[in-house]
Amino acid sequence: MDRIRIKGGRQLKGEIRISGSKNASLPLMVAALLSDKPLTLHNVPRLADITTMIQLLQQHGVEVSAAAGENGHAHGTTLVLRAEKIVSTTAPYDIVRKMRASVLVLGALLTREREARVSLPGGCAIGARPVDLHIAGLKAMGAEIDIDGGYLVAKAPGGLRGARYTFPKVSVGATENLMMAAALAKGTTVLDNAAREPEITDLAHCLIALGVPVDGVGTETLTIEGVPALKAAEHSVIPDRIETGTYAMAVAMTAGDVELVGGRLDLIETAAQTLRAAGVSLEPTARGVRVQRTNGALRGVDVMTEPYPGFPTDLQAQMMALMTRAEGAAMITETVFESRFMHVPELSRMGANVTIHHESALVRGVPKLRGAEVMATDLRASVSLAIAGLAAEGHTTVNRVYHLDRGYERLEEKLGACGADIERLKG
Ligand code: UD1
Repeated sequence: MDRIRIKGGRQLKGEIRISGSKNASLPLMVAALLSDKPLTLHNVPRLADITTMIQLLQQHGVEVSAAAGENGHAHGTTLVLRAEKIVSTTAPYDIVRKMRASVLVLGALLTREREARVSLPGGCAIGARPVDLHIAGLKAMGAEIDIDGGYLVAKAPGGLRGARYTFPKVSVGATENLMMAAALAKGTTVLDNAAREPEITDLAHCLIALGVPVDGVGTETLTIEGVPALKAAEHSVIPDRIETGTYAMAVAMTAGDVELVGGRLDLIETAAQTLRAAGVSLEPTARGVRVQRTNGALRGVDVMTEPYPGFPTDLQAQMMALMTRAEGAAMITETVFESRFMHVPELSRMGANVTIHHESALVRGVPKLRGAEVMATDLRASVSLAIAGLAAEGHTTVNRVYHLDRGYERLEEKLGACGADIERLKG
């Protein structure tokens, strides 16, 4: 298994190109299941999760062709996906267990084929992560759903019907699943308390391009008009806001100065405000965002994760890594997921001072971190350890790099090109 080795102490300077969003790409790829016509997606990142989704879709019968985007590596991949005929409505355990987002095929398969069998995702490193909201929403649209042999077995013999459904809790995945189910349902679906993440908005724009009327885009009430069939469409994936925020925190950690090319400040507003309060400058440029911390120490700031537009849970671990070196204390509260503090014991092994109390972690800044051999069981936790390594004395080795590869495209190349002393150790 590959490892990443970092020698801390170098400032990051230069530019980093931000890839297309992983979490936007996955549901957009699934949307191809809704149509027998091709869906062309530009700016798809090259990541292990994308490969897993391609495998899942191929076994459902989707033809997938990939070409390097404009400018080769720099602009990601263009995928052409065509589900002329669905050959299997089963999403097998083997693939679903590798990637929870596989559950997104449930709504699309059910609405098009009137049946679907999707393995339950099972245990997850960041809390229980149930799928009850996906199920309740689809039932409101007329689906019958049972659990058999570890699989969700869903049927809608007469097809799904449009319905009004209010999410009791904001869920990104359940909102996406129901938006896709609604696209081919009979009549109108209204989703209240829907997630408002930019990835949801991106999916809405793509559905509109596919010929599905969607109203209320960007708000907590989405109205989707079911249609009998979808058109061919072409769509460009939004830049990855979590990658943007992650590199902004890495730059801040090293007191560096980097332009995040292709990054969008408007997608990370809450995180940007938090970083500014900590003493980091983020400014829009013609090509993206410039991040600098050239004078003064980092200041401790309190953070609470919340659904969008709040501070993203997917940046919580990275922010904590940054706060380990701040002057003063930072209270970091995780409200979206339970048990999302697995990075804390590893950061502590590097000399961080963090105390967990229920859903909050109190981080008291320390004057230095020391490199160590570390690992994490989730991709954002893994990258937080790499950020800590950038500012630690000596070498930090991050094990289980396959977690990083699920969500960060060529991390070591992107950081290395800005001056980080970082290498991938094969094996
Ligand atoms: C997506 C993102 C993930 C991010 C998360 C929250 C993708 C592929 N993943 O995950 O990176 O961290 O949004 O921004 O886009 N919940 C239920 N019942 C359900 C569904 C969810 O209780 O049926 C709970 C979850 O356990 C969690 C909360 O709702 O506590 C939010 O989860 P959700 O928004 O659904 O996350 P994902 O879509 O899985």
